[in-house]
Amino acid sequence: MKALVLVGGFGTRLRPITYSLPKQLIPLAGKPMLYHVLDQLPADIEEVVFASGYKADVLERYLKEHPLRWPTRTVPEATPLGTGGGMRNAGAGLSDPFLLLNSDVIAEIDVPGLIRLHAERGGVGALSLSEVEDTRPYGVAALGPRDRIERFVEKPTPEAAPSHWINAGLSIWRRTVIDRIPEGRAVSWETEIVPGLLSEGVFGYRCPGFWEDAGTPERLLHAQRLLFDAGRGGPSRLPPGSSGQGPVASAPTVRASGARLGAYVHLDSGVALGAGSFVEDSILMEGVEVGPNASVRRAILGPGVRIPEGGLVEGHVLARESLP
Ligand code: GTP
Repeated sequence: MKALVLVGGFGTRLRPITYSLPKQLIPLAGKPMLYHVLDQLPADIEEVVFASGYKADVLERYLKEHPLRWPTRTVPEATPLGTGGGMRNAGAGLSDPFLLLNSDVIAEIDVPGLIRLHAERGGVGALSLSEVEDTRPYGVAALGPRDRIERFVEKPTPEAAPSHWINAGLSIWRRTVIDRIPEGRAVSWETEIVPGLLSEGVFGYRCPGFWEDAGTPERLLHAQRLLFDAGRGGPSRLPPGSSGQGPVASAPTVRASGARLGAYVHLDSGVALGAGSFVEDSILMEGVEVGPNASVRRAILGPGVRIPEGGLVEGHVLARESLP
């Protein structure tokens, strides 16, 4: 089985960091988002194909320097083709069936269970589903007998939502569905193609584990908390000379003598925290410097950001390029 991963989006909701970096490379709980997403894949996947576009070169370079456990291939789009167009563009040579993954969903999906369900029920595909309270930003499934999806409504109003079960961002499809996607233009897989496939049999696989769409700053930090709480942030490691409870994911090169660390913190390589500084519920990317006695809470700081002595950052996404 091969897996097709959609990685071509602009990540506008995580700007300014995504001006220089694809969102999939933003780290949380010890490693980039994409690597957490792919942790869900079975070990015997034959190939992982990336449908890329925005910042494809940055992603490709990173993958080369930090190889995955499976063979990989990147198929970039010259212009953004949307989720469906990206699938069509990268669709040659996929397995039948193939797995389809969004690259910004942090979740606990039972992938072998999804594959089994598809083999048992047949049809053209099966979607993993997660139950959420607020369905407004997502695609919502109406389930009939034998978990067959009868309707699929993208971003419904609360009154129009047929259930609380949403597309969890990991699905399995027969290869023939690729032929349904028009060529050479942007296509939304979820709104333009999936509704037309329901009559041929698309099934829902309910997954009770945690789920978060890490595409906004608040949800990205929530996804990091979920990963740490699930023990998927690696061993909690306070940098030498710092104090606090953790959980903290810290690269070996972090300097933080005299700093205090609250819960749920990711510190990338080369981060320097001054004496008396405090960081909690945050992501500090490569080379971030926090001055003495400064505080950082609920923030995502891009590579090389500097917070001056005594500074206070709360609830912000900052990139070096966007600072005065
Ligand atoms: P925002 O701009 O913040 O909405 O983020 P986004 O561009 O990533 O969009 P969204 O979160 O809706 O994307 C869902 C998934 O589809 C992500 O894995 C994206 O990388 C991917 N995606 C979105 N647009 C495209 C596209 O035009 N081509 C490809 N190949 N993937 C896409």
